[in-house]
Amino acid sequence: MAAFTCSFFFIFLLLLTFQTSITMATYSSYQDSTKCSHGGPSIHHPFHIKGLSPLHESLPGFELLCKENLTTIHFPSYGDLVVKSITYDTRKIQLLDPKNCVHGVFLNLNLSFTPFQYYYVLKNYTYLNCSTKLSTPPFTEVPCLSGSDSHVYTVDPELHVPDSCNGFKTVGIPFKYSPYISDNSLGLALTWNLPHSEETKEAINKTTDSHTARYTALGLSICSVVAAIALIIISIIKVSGSTWNCGEKEDPLLLQSLPNV
Ligand SMILES: *[C@@H]1O[C@H](CO)[C@@H](O)[C@H](O)[C@H]1NC(C)=O
Ligand SMILES: *[C@@H]1O[C@H](CO)[C@@H](O)[C@H](O)[C@H]1NC(C)=O
Ligand SMILES: *[C@@H]1O[C@H](CO)[C@@H](O)[C@H](O)[C@H]1NC(C)=O
Ligand SMILES: *[C@@H]1O[C@H](CO)[C@@H](O)[C@H](O)[C@H]1NC(C)=O
Ligand SMILES: *[C@@H]1O[C@H](CO)[C@@H](O)[C@H](O)[C@H]1NC(C)=O
Repeated sequence: MAAFTCSFFFIFLLLLTFQTSITMATYSSYQDSTKCSHGGPSIHHPFHIKGLSPLHESLPGFELLCKENLTTIHFPSYGDLVVKSITYDTRKIQLLDPKNCVHGVFLNLNLSFTPFQYYYVLKNYTYLNCSTKLSTPPFTEVPCLSGSDSHVYTVDPELHVPDSCNGFKTVGIPFKYSPYISDNSLGLALTWNLPHSEETKEAINKTTDSHTARYTALGLSICSVVAAIALIIISIIKVSGSTWNCGEKEDPLLLQSLPNV
């Protein structure tokens, strides 16, 4: 009977510590987070998945879609881009073009009226559409925008436009086309701005969360110390062969001495 009550006491202490750690873990993960697939990016504020009822009001422009296993974002000026990763602390969203044409994205993507900007410093380049193929530098054809009768090049805006070409757009892009850069994600990184009121709320939330985490950690430490002391006391009692019995009948003093968490 005594042994039973003693074990019960230990189990109670264990549960108490366990529960406190769970509480702490819950608070230390900044907010609820979801994913489109196992390896996909974590999606949480300010982003949300379309169709999944968001816990808090959704911000325009931060809507993501799950298409099969892919996390995608839709831009009216271009279409869907695949979200490769989201880094919340540096506010960087890395995208992939499913059509594998980064310079087609640069040409068409218009980030006005979206919360996004390119993550990188931009430089103006002119897109040329030429009826003849030019193969001397600085003319390097962008294969994914060219056809048999039209050859597209990205050149410095200062450059004299050859007669067979039409400079159809000058736009700020991270870099001009190079055949050596065939990565379909290079340069496709954006950063975002939140509306001013959201910025303030987020700052307040972060402070509150770190306070909660600190107090929970403190609570956990106290619990562990109490558990350790209880263990030591009980061992001492056992070793010294004391006749003190922790469970012949319910000891109100012992129960009261447990931390009230
Ligand atoms: C989605 O991911 C699962 C597990 O990784 C895989 O079995 C499945 O084939 C994937 N589906 C598509 C459409 O990629
Ligand atoms: C983006 O769209 C806006 C409004 O439609 C327009 O004023 C602006 O020139 C466009 N920007 C680019 C880079 O095409
Ligand atoms: C690109 O050209 C436009 C219009 O000439 C100019 O306003 C803008 O500052 C230029 N951007 C860069 C990155 O040089
Ligand atoms: C280049 O010009 C051709 C012929 O006018 C046109 O069919 C093609 O769509 C143009 N390419 C781009 C990328 O605008
Ligand atoms: C702040 O936290 C609350 C509750 O945890 C949440 O509902 C709200 O959306 C958060 N706001 C921001 C801006 O993160």
